[in-house]
Amino acid sequence: MHRTVKEIREQKGNKKIAVVTAYDYTMASLLDRAGMDILLVGDSAAMVMMGHDSTQKIGMDEMCLFTSSVAAGTSGALVVADMPFMSCQSPDAAAKNADRLVHAGAHGVKIEGGCEMALHAARIAEHGIPVMGHIGYCPQTGISGASKRCAMSEGAVSGLVGDALALEEAGAFALVLEMVSAEGAARITDTVGIPTIGIGSGPACDGQVLVGQDMLGMYERIRPSFARRYRDLASEITAAAAEYRDDIVSGAFPAPEHGFSMKGGTS
Ligand code: KIV
Repeated sequence: MHRTVKEIREQKGNKKIAVVTAYDYTMASLLDRAGMDILLVGDSAAMVMMGHDSTQKIGMDEMCLFTSSVAAGTSGALVVADMPFMSCQSPDAAAKNADRLVHAGAHGVKIEGGCEMALHAARIAEHGIPVMGHIGYCPQTGISGASKRCAMSEGAVSGLVGDALALEEAGAFALVLEMVSAEGAARITDTVGIPTIGIGSGPACDGQVLVGQDMLGMYERIRPSFARRYRDLASEITAAAAEYRDDIVSGAFPAPEHGFSMKGGTS
């Protein structure tokens, strides 16, 4: 049975919420088996799956494909899919594109932006689609080179609290806080009645999210300071593939048990 939005909401203040990104069937089924609460089909797929340099370079068709692959491998977690860059040009466009992601297999969607996206979030929620907000640093619109650290002053924290309240009022069931100062994230978490999911935002959030490839040590181009690497799968995969290649060259693979002979056959 999949986690429900109600269950995720009830975890606030009771049990921390574990979230990780996934983009394909095989990885989703492994992450789901580990007991994740939410699998997020992030638009970070543009970078870690497609090799682009920004999350802007993915569209609805690709997001639907990644979402259906993750949904096929998930039986316990709630599947939330990112609304990609330019998919929320108006509240109606946002609702239409959210509907496409739900048809691809998502249980809910995530939308980047603060107060300015409240109407869009409300329109999605009116259609009965669970919507998650994403405030603080928003990679889709972040200006490259600018500091990603958010909520570094009292005024900035107040601004983000306003964004969080507007999204809660619009019907968001949870909020991702990206690169929000620990103090700012604690204030937002204490103020809103919905769970906050932090990434680089300190321990006070109601849950945490990491990009799966960062958590597993697979993506080598960027190593975010906030991501703990639980394994070094990049080395593991390269070593396994090198062993396989050596075995092919030496003739050690395939062995007799990897094939079959005509002896004893009838057809
Ligand atoms: O696209 C993404 O990976 C995200 C993060 C919150 C992990 O939005």
